[in-house]
Amino acid sequence: MTTETLETHQYDVIVIGAGGSGLRAAVAAAEGGLKVAVITKSLLGKAHTVMAEGGAAASFGNLDAPDGWETHFYDTMRSGHFINNYRAVEIFALEAPDRVLELEEWGAVFDRTSAGRIMQRAFGAHSFRRLCHIGDHTGLELLRTMQYKSIHSGIDFFMEVTLTTLLKDGERVAGAFGYYRADGRFVLFRAKAVILSTGGWGRIYKITSNSWESTGDGAAMAFRAGADLTDMEMVQFHPTGMVWPPGVRGLLVTEGVRGEGGLLYNSEGERFMERYDPARMELSSRDVVARSIFKEVQAGRGTPHGGAWLDISHKGAEYVKRKLPAMYEQFLTLADLDITRERFEVAPTCHYTMGGIRVDAESCASSVPGLFAAGEVAAGLHGANRLGGNSLTDLLVFGRRAGLGASAYVQAWQGDAPKVDQATVEAEMVRIVAPFQRSEGINPYQLHQQLQELMTVHAGIMRSGDVLAEGLEKILDLKDRARQMMAAGSRTYNPGWHAVFDVENMLLLCEGIVRSALERKESRGAHWRTDYPDELEEFQRVNYVESYRDGEIQVRTEAVSPMPERLAKLFTYGKAPGLVSPAEREAMG
Ligand code: FUM
Repeated sequence: MTTETLETHQYDVIVIGAGGSGLRAAVAAAEGGLKVAVITKSLLGKAHTVMAEGGAAASFGNLDAPDGWETHFYDTMRSGHFINNYRAVEIFALEAPDRVLELEEWGAVFDRTSAGRIMQRAFGAHSFRRLCHIGDHTGLELLRTMQYKSIHSGIDFFMEVTLTTLLKDGERVAGAFGYYRADGRFVLFRAKAVILSTGGWGRIYKITSNSWESTGDGAAMAFRAGADLTDMEMVQFHPTGMVWPPGVRGLLVTEGVRGEGGLLYNSEGERFMERYDPARMELSSRDVVARSIFKEVQAGRGTPHGGAWLDISHKGAEYVKRKLPAMYEQFLTLADLDITRERFEVAPTCHYTMGGIRVDAESCASSVPGLFAAGEVAAGLHGANRLGGNSLTDLLVFGRRAGLGASAYVQAWQGDAPKVDQATVEAEMVRIVAPFQRSEGINPYQLHQQLQELMTVHAGIMRSGDVLAEGLEKILDLKDRARQMMAAGSRTYNPGWHAVFDVENMLLLCEGIVRSALERKESRGAHWRTDYPDELEEFQRVNYVESYRDGEIQVRTEAVSPMPERLAKLFTYGKAPGLVSPAEREAMG
């Protein structure tokens, strides 16, 4: 038992994670008059939200009048290969425009059309120009706006805090426990409701657009606390990450480059997308473009460093600098390359995790009472493949809904605040410092590197049963070895110690990914299995749902709920609803 004094806080709602969804959730909860805190392991303003550069999808139809929520719904379901939660997609498509306008009211400065409306750009697999943007730094502007809004909403902020476990009182959530990263001091947050908005786990791969924070802490904590996860096998590889120089490999090259007219070529000068999706070419969906680049490289038609060429120079320097200022700067600074004059190499990079905590579409409630989730950590909206631009509106729409869901839960509360079990907290303190007690053991960084390598080989863009099964064995072996992870030195400023918990979380989620990937014996969206190259029939559509019980992951199959008639009819025209003329609609009834 420790003699250390335990810093304790009491809130109605705590929000874990300070990206766009966390801040939007906190604002919604605080507007309900609740006492709210946001806790982040990083700094305010630093989140993967900024990596959604190209825009926020909302069907205003400012440039393409026929766009509307029905077409956005249609595009999102089609790109998700119909394993999305249809109700989540419906809510999303209906509410996205209001959330973008609200963001504008709060100070986001969008690019504008000559008529003064929010400017929208084309993006892969969207039927119309739909991405509301601020140059190519939309996520940054969204986060800046939400930051200002939230710091003026009476919310408390705790930065650089690692939370290692959620606490429960019986079945209900009761708070979270962890430590300050700077000096290792323990800290306990008691709360009636917890909202997780910790983002994804892209750091499980070697090549990724994600920065150090994306280690899946929220999903892993929720899983251990009894929440179900779903669609874990669905990991998005963005087609265009930087390839060269090696130090920046994986850094995002926004889809906005292709949205603004950028063209992809292989080493033989062919616009190879002709081979894979001649109708949509460079603006095909992300899963298709990423796979196409991968196949070109495999076929020996890759660029010198194993990618494809992307070229936007034909659009002219003034246009490129105006529309894509961040990309222009990024290549100039990091690669000494002027994209207004030269083509550049790109290759797929892990960007997003479609799977995550299974939540109710209306309230974002998980299967644990009092535990809510929004943004990338939650699953359901994007199905088997996310459309570019849908993440920013996802976090606004469902961040708000999670905040409202948690508020309603707290307001309906009866009786005493949840109790935190002292013995559980003390056991967690002992567990957290255990890595210091091992004089010999495994370096967490080494384990992380091994995990990244094995995930890239065994559960990357291309998968097969044998390779996945071998990957699972290796993960179980790493899990075993991870029990011996050690940290040297003290709890003050000790990144090696923090890495222990990151690795534990990633290992758990990687096991979940591989187990579901083994179960899904088909190719669907981002999940490409060479031994099962086809997508199963409509009546065989399922989600894989995982629960964690007594230290074991259990995977079960659940049939995808069929869409009600009002939504199913949108797919009967053979094309996007916005492209159907009134006469065609009438003819089809
Ligand atoms: O390419 C991009 O700008 C990324 C956008 C997104 O992930 O939504």
